[in-house]
Amino acid sequence: MKIIVDTPEALARFAAERYVTLLNKKPDAVIGLATGSTPLGLYRELQRLCAEKKLSFAKATSFNLDEYVGLSGDHDQSYRYFMDHNLFQGIDIDPKKTFVPSGLGDIAKNAEEYEDMIGLAGGIDLQLLGLGQNGHIGFNEPGTPLNSPTHEIELTENTRMANARFFASPDEVPTHAISMGIRTVMNAKSVILIALGENKADAVAKSVKGPIDLSVPAAVLQLHPDVTFYLDEAAASRL
Ligand code: F6R
Repeated sequence: MKIIVDTPEALARFAAERYVTLLNKKPDAVIGLATGSTPLGLYRELQRLCAEKKLSFAKATSFNLDEYVGLSGDHDQSYRYFMDHNLFQGIDIDPKKTFVPSGLGDIAKNAEEYEDMIGLAGGIDLQLLGLGQNGHIGFNEPGTPLNSPTHEIELTENTRMANARFFASPDEVPTHAISMGIRTVMNAKSVILIALGENKADAVAKSVKGPIDLSVPAAVLQLHPDVTFYLDEAAASRL
């Protein structure tokens, strides 16, 4: 399903409704979260709804998609730091029930444990995704096998340069990341993908109606039984 809106604010409101519906029905739901620029408006809306007591994450558990290898959670470019500052500190979730993969130490072991933790929590009820300009979801770059669990990934130059704006210099952008795999994402009961702007239009079109192959990781979502794309008109312009 595709929901096309005219402003980022409308996208945030529509997508936020999904959390209200889910958490009303299942207060202890397991939610999968993303970082990046696109979710910021949605996260502000979730914080607003929490402040107005229209939404509560008090019993929920969250699992983030990914983290850079080599950055600890107090590094201001780590995804743990991003989540703490852009969402968790402004909602009533128990910080102990917010999980972000660890990019420190033995990454293969961290990845395996992350999959186990998601399984023990009962699986992800609602997974939020952004979309890379190259069609990546999480840090699953083109070529990632469709049956991949959480794993370590070498970032493409394209992705490193897209993210360089946040670092003091492009050389500081980590070369590797740990990410939920495509299989992890596909196992979520429901998926919402949000995309804003003309620079996502090509990836959106290929994801929604392109062939399902490894060159556009998000195209596999066509096989998911419950996925909704929330788009602005620019991102939807090539559909
Ligand atoms: C972030 C993530 C990435 C982003 C994607 C889009 O956790 O997994 O797949 O969702 O790179 O990023 P933005 O929203 O910054 O355009």
